[in-house]
Amino acid sequence: MVKTKAIKTTEEEPKMETEEEPKMETEKEETELKESTKLENAEESIEQEETDSKLKPKITEIEDLPGVGPTTATKLREAGYDNLESISVASPAEIVEVAALGEATAAKVIEAAREAQDMGYETAADLMIRRRIIGRLTTGAAEVNELLNGGIETQSITEVYGKYGCGKSQLAMQLAVNVQLPYDKGGLEGGVLFIDTEGTFRPERIIQMAEHLGMNSEQVLKSIHVARAYNSDHQMLLAEKAAELIKEKNIRLVVVDSLTAHFRAEYVGRGTLANRQQKLNRHMHTLAKLSDLHNIIIFVTNQVMSRPDIMFGDPTAPIGGHIVGHTATYRIYLRKSKGEKRIAKLVDSPCLPDGEALFSVTENGIEE
Ligand SMILES: Nc1ncnc2c1ncn2[C@@H]1O[C@H](COP(=O)(O)OP(=O)(O)O)[C@@H](O)[C@H]1O
Ligand SMILES: [Mg+2]
Repeated sequence: MVKTKAIKTTEEEPKMETEEEPKMETEKEETELKESTKLENAEESIEQEETDSKLKPKITEIEDLPGVGPTTATKLREAGYDNLESISVASPAEIVEVAALGEATAAKVIEAAREAQDMGYETAADLMIRRRIIGRLTTGAAEVNELLNGGIETQSITEVYGKYGCGKSQLAMQLAVNVQLPYDKGGLEGGVLFIDTEGTFRPERIIQMAEHLGMNSEQVLKSIHVARAYNSDHQMLLAEKAAELIKEKNIRLVVVDSLTAHFRAEYVGRGTLANRQQKLNRHMHTLAKLSDLHNIIIFVTNQVMSRPDIMFGDPTAPIGGHIVGHTATYRIYLRKSKGEKRIAKLVDSPCLPDGEALFSVTENGIEE
């Protein structure tokens, strides 16, 4: 076996050349073709790989990325970009902001992180494999589960919207209990991050729901990590910093209840809407990334506003408009019916038929 020859220029990929085939520059292209098809020999390809990795140092840490020194690495880590994966799915603007890099450098950093991870296109077959690990969480109401093709999905954002008192927070708390159930009971055997923006999370209610399901309520409470978000910036930061905790605590569900309340309260008046939407967009993308990267459920609640311009039908619409609507994978509209009865309506789903399901909010929690 012949050792790989010295490389002629730095741009060229190192190629194997054998003793009996010394090649001239003019024949190079043809040779490359032939050789690439000849590389069936395992030994040869191993050697080829070794040469490649000597040429381009393998990128495994964020410090290995071109243009990332210790200071930049620290800034990135502090902002939650602590691995190649999170950088590779970031936008240049995000990296510019957190690491104080120029736009071009940021783009290069992201590109290198993507290359190191073999990112970019994936085949539909690979996508199918990724979709196979999607988990489904029971809502506690069979009809609602059916409406959602078996339950609330991981790797996606589910948004529920509706008027005050329609059961959004009740459903959020119920999911925080249910996600801890074993798989055969419709759970995902994991913990919860609960971002509470309105101060309506009640541990007492969790205990009620857990006991009804025969669970150890103390254990259930310990697996729900609650953060009270005091304003929209704090809320965004809580989501941006969530990755580490998600891995550490085997989190399978992140709740944001309510997604839009702070944004709505803070951005009032003319000229602030574009700003609000931009921030909301960034927040939604942070959440979408979390759901994809960690195979978890993102469950967000949203309020409605009245639309005086709608003359017929339901004059209410969710806050956040297209930004929230397009980033959420599933949108469910909740409304009150008689007494404890509630109606869930699936809106604009990418792959499920729109429909309605009935459930109840009782002392036990969410029920049929
Ligand atoms: N312990 C309980 N027993 C029965 N029903 C309850 C209980 N707690 C809350 N509810 C029901 O849930 C409603 C509040 O729903 P909630 O999810 O807080 O509304 P929102 O959609 O505004 O978040 C109450 O009006 C009541 O109907
Ligand atoms: Mg609520």
